[in-house]
Amino acid sequence: MADKHILHMMTPHKHVSPFDVNMALDAGYDSVTPYEEVTLEEIADLVQDVIFSRPPNLGVNSAVFFGGDDAVLALDMIDAAKNALVPPFGCNIMADPAGSFTTAAAMVACVERTLKNKHQKALKDVSIAVFGATGVVGYCAAVIAALEGARVQIVGYSGIDRVAKRGDEMKERFGAKVEPADGSSDEKNTTIVKDVDVILTAAKAGVQVLSASQLKAAGKLLVAADVNAVPPLGLEGVDVMADAEPIEGTNAFGIGALAVGPIKSKTEHGLLRRMIEAGEPQVLDFRDAFQLARTLVS
Ligand SMILES: NC(=O)c1ccc[n+]([C@@H]2O[C@H](COP(=O)([O-])OP(=O)(O)OC[C@H]3O[C@@H](n4cnc5c(N)ncnc54)[C@H](OP(=O)(O)O)[C@@H]3O)[C@@H](O)[C@H]2O)c1
Repeated sequence: MADKHILHMMTPHKHVSPFDVNMALDAGYDSVTPYEEVTLEEIADLVQDVIFSRPPNLGVNSAVFFGGDDAVLALDMIDAAKNALVPPFGCNIMADPAGSFTTAAAMVACVERTLKNKHQKALKDVSIAVFGATGVVGYCAAVIAALEGARVQIVGYSGIDRVAKRGDEMKERFGAKVEPADGSSDEKNTTIVKDVDVILTAAKAGVQVLSASQLKAAGKLLVAADVNAVPPLGLEGVDVMADAEPIEGTNAFGIGALAVGPIKSKTEHGLLRRMIEAGEPQVLDFRDAFQLARTLVS
């Protein structure tokens, strides 16, 4: 009998994500077992239970996956899992809390492709304002873009304090340099976007972040991308299906949530497949997701 590919799916929440269960089974896992309300402190014991049940050469066929909706906690869980491995016993480790790692990776990859194709620019050449960066998707998008050399501002709709803390954390954890900005009024947001080349919106579903007139006032704007698929959309005038479509009244191109979505799904599928196919155990986070997503958009 062939050795089974077994995925242990862990979340700090009450439920694992049915989306991730489907993705994992469709990617080829033979079995996906949910573990719910898991704490950081429990990760080491669970991972050691996974690895010691099979001989070392079969560790590559076992995997743990961390969900939830907190990027930092998911990364801490990855670290706890890595630290619990006892070579030569090992297993694959991946996180994608609320789909955020793969969504952020896909969003930034779509922006990178559009900057290159429409403006002959790279991420390192541009300034970016990220809206919704206290959320998981915006947080990861900001870090990915900053690590690629973009000048990134993270905009707080509730003022500067919370995004300033997030910015400090991004610097400490990833060496990612980002600037906090106060986006607590429409006027402040208009001023912020007047000076940037790229806008990324990853705000709560059903919240319009910027109006069409604010986008028109963004004189340097090259690309604007939104991942909210629930009306009203995050950027007025950027259709949910837009895939590098001109934004009326600007020289910029828009990317909507349903252009990002298929790249997100292919990225998550690809990372899950990588854990099944690789000859060595993998450890995969949003940086791996971005490296894969940028190959999928080109
Ligand atoms: N297209 C795709 O493939 C895909 C996949 C996954 C998610 N998504 C979408 O991506 C977006 C972000 O997801 P997420 O999981 O990161 O959500 P989240 O954790 O709820 O974060 C949303 C962000 O929006 C902020 N926010 C809340 N109310 C706001 C307002 N009135 N104005 C501006 N910002 C506001 C939140 O701030 P607080 O810190 O105050 O809550 C947070 O920073 C959602 O629209 C989600 O539906 C898309």
